[in-house]
Amino acid sequence: MRPRAKRHRPLMSTLADKRFVIVTGKGGVGKTTVCAAEAIGLSARGKRVLVAMCNAKERLSAMLGVPPLGPRVAQVAENLWAVNILPESALEEYGALVLHSRALYKTLFDNRYVRNFLRAVPGMQEWAMLGKAWWHTTETLPDGSPKYDVVILDAPATGHGLDMLRVPKVIVDVAPSGLLRRDAERAWALFQDPHACAIVLVTLPEEMPTTETIELARALSEMGLPVGRVVVNGVLPPLFSREERAALEALPAFDVHTPGDAALYASRDRAARERVQAESLNRLSRELPVAPSFIPLLFEDAANPDAIRRLAKRL
Ligand SMILES: Nc1ncnc2c1ncn2[C@@H]1O[C@H](COP(=O)(O)OP(=O)(O)O)[C@@H](O)[C@H]1O
Ligand SMILES: [Mg+2]
Repeated sequence: MRPRAKRHRPLMSTLADKRFVIVTGKGGVGKTTVCAAEAIGLSARGKRVLVAMCNAKERLSAMLGVPPLGPRVAQVAENLWAVNILPESALEEYGALVLHSRALYKTLFDNRYVRNFLRAVPGMQEWAMLGKAWWHTTETLPDGSPKYDVVILDAPATGHGLDMLRVPKVIVDVAPSGLLRRDAERAWALFQDPHACAIVLVTLPEEMPTTETIELARALSEMGLPVGRVVVNGVLPPLFSREERAALEALPAFDVHTPGDAALYASRDRAARERVQAESLNRLSRELPVAPSFIPLLFEDAANPDAIRRLAKRL
């Protein structure tokens, strides 16, 4: 048996004091939904929040009820900004920043060969997006205060998300000293700081996502990156006790003839789902470094502002 995860667990994980929040997890588990809900919650508490997506076929705008989001930061509500970072334009902005001149960047990089070369450097596209999201944490207002209190990154799903998070460390290890390495060092230091950065793992109360989440949490802790919060999405309110679940699941197969049969059939299904959910929540609580928080399954379209506000309250 593997050793148990760390025992010193914060009772409540808060994102309110973080500068950078990275939301990841298996595809389709509700990462963008959680980003939207956290962004709504934090901005309502007066935090200036930027949500950054990575080259996404973005659905965040539908969730927030705002016009489609592009590669330019747009204010979408009070205290709330959003951007869909595209690797090409991020690379261009970053290049211009590093070279202190967009014109110089254009002479150097508006060249198919150079562009193809950059595209081929492993991790360069990932760093362009992650680095740009990080760079937004360094932006300041004229009075010197941070432009955003927190940047929430809607990161790619598990494997790609991990690959993306590995890039700054690789740059720190292998890049020659210079601006690229200096920025990667600053970003990597921020990502590793549990007071300033939180990685949020989103999962479902099901077997495969649970296993993947536990593995992801291990991989992140091996990289020295802080898992600040685990959100179990799509949680069903339990209708049955453990004994009732067992009794329902033990029912022999039967044909459905009457409404009573149908109700019993549905109950047996529900009992099985509740058992899997209970097992998954147990495993997550046992194996993860932070106590999970939950958001309920809504039996309706959740990609709209009203639903997101309700989910935000539950977080
Ligand atoms: N708690 C929930 N209840 C009902 N539907 C949800 C819930 N969370 C997410 N969804 C829906 O599931 C789909 C996937 O969610 P999304 O946040 O886009 O996942 P991801 O970003 O991980 O791919 C979306 O249609 C979303 O509206
Ligand atoms: Mg998404």
